Amino acid sequence: MKYLGVAMLFFISHLALADQATAMKSGCMGCHQLDRKAVGPSIKDLAAKYSAADVDALVATVKAGRAAGELTWGAIPMPASPAPEADVKTVIEWMLTQ
Ligand code: HEC
Repeated sequence: MKYLGVAMLFFISHLALADQATAMKSGCMGCHQLDRKAVGPSIKDLAAKYSAADVDALVATVKAGRAAGELTWGAIPMPASPAPEADVKTVIEWMLTQ
């Protein structure tokens, strides 16, 4: 049992790293830092504002981008993401658990 626990822990932390790697690969980390505001809101602020029920709407927002005039967070628009939708979803699910 002890070994199963260790294996599970390793598996879970490995999954979290994979999600962060997807965030980097998808270019999100260039504008979203974990705990401070960068070009976009911090990932902790996103996690505080949104829950799992918002994931699909957020994926749509990120794929479409956010134009000036419809901003929620400030004055800087977010360009439409070229990353595959499945990756964007993985990243947002990861962001909301930070
Ligand atoms: C060029 C910079 C940039 C990149 C790259 C970027 N974002 Fe953003 N993101 C922003 C900005 C700026 C905002 C705030 C827009 C606003 O005020 O509504 C934002 C907002 C968001 C929001 C909140 C939207 C809302 O309705 O509140 C989420 C979620 C998000 N980004 C996720 C992502 C993900 C996932 C990626 C990678 C696929 C990504 N972003 C890539 C700049 C960026």
